[in-house]
Amino acid sequence: MRHLISPLDLSVTELADILNLAEDIIRDPAKYSECCHGKKLATLFYEPSTRTRLSFEAAMLNLGGSVLGFSSADSSSASKGESVADTIRVISGYADICAMRHPKEGAPLVASMYSEIPVINAGDGGHNHPTQTLTDLLTIKNLKGRLDHLTIGLCGDLKFGRTVHSLINAMVRYPEISFVLISPDELKLPTYIREGVLDKNQIPYKEVRSLEEVLPELDLLYMTRVQKERFFNEEDYIRLKDTYILDAKKMALAKEDMLVLHPLPRVNEIATEVDSDPRAAYFKQAKYGVYARMALIMTLLGVHVD
Ligand code: CP
Repeated sequence: MRHLISPLDLSVTELADILNLAEDIIRDPAKYSECCHGKKLATLFYEPSTRTRLSFEAAMLNLGGSVLGFSSADSSSASKGESVADTIRVISGYADICAMRHPKEGAPLVASMYSEIPVINAGDGGHNHPTQTLTDLLTIKNLKGRLDHLTIGLCGDLKFGRTVHSLINAMVRYPEISFVLISPDELKLPTYIREGVLDKNQIPYKEVRSLEEVLPELDLLYMTRVQKERFFNEEDYIRLKDTYILDAKKMALAKEDMLVLHPLPRVNEIATEVDSDPRAAYFKQAKYGVYARMALIMTLLGVHVD
C-alpha cells in the first residue's frame, strides 16, 4: 500500500508515469470513466478548501467512483476530541482511499501510520501540498513543454507557503533549474528548505525583495497569497499582505512566454487585469488539478486501463 505524504514519496520515474497517465486522461477521458467503479474516496478536510477537495471529488466521480467525507473539523467528531489516528482507523472501513487536509504539520503522516487505505496529503499546515505539486508539474509540462532548464520565480509567502515548499522539493530533481526567491524578510524561505534542499542539491538561487528587478529573467513566476490564517498577529498580516501586486505594468517587464502560476485562492497579489494576459495560467492550472488527481488515485489504487 502506498501513501502520498511528501512530493519525495514519488520517484522522478513514478512522477513521469503519473504525468503521462494524466495526459492520456486529458486526451481520452471516456476511456477512464468507469475504471474506479465501486471504489470510494473519503475527503477528510479539517481546514477550508475549494480546489483541492472539489477537484479530488471531481476526479473520483470522473473515474466512475464515489465520494464521502467532511469539509470542516467542526462537522466531524474532531470537534468532540477524536484523534486523527482513531478517525483514519474508522474511515479505513468506509472507503478505499482518502485525501486529508489538516492545519497541523504531520497529521496526514500520522494518519498513514494507522491507516489500512492509501492516505494522500491534501495540505498539512505550512509543510507540504504534494497534489498541488503534481498539478503544477502537469501545468508546467503542458504549457512550457518541459520540466528542466527553467528559471523559476517564487513570490510572496515563502515562509508558510506549503505549495512553494513542495514545488521546490520536486523541481530540484530536474536538470538546470534555478530559483529566484522573492519575499519580504519576514516571509523568507525557511532555513530547513534553503539549506536542506537548495544548498544540499547545489541548486542556484538568489533571495530578493523586488519583483520588478527580476521579472525579465524569469521563465515562470509562481505567485502566492500572504496567508492570514498562518499569522499569529493581525498587525503583521496587514503590514505584509499587499507587498506584491502583479499588474499589467509589471507584466510588461516579463518575457513574452513567461508563465504566471498561482495555486489560488488569490486575494490582491494578482490584479484581475492580468487574467486576460495569455501568460496567466492559474485558472488552467486549477483545471489540470483534476487530471493530476485522477492519475494519482488510479496509481495509488493500482487501477490500470489498457
Ligand atoms: N490550491 C489550493 O490548495 O486551493 P484550496 O485551498 O482551495 O484547496
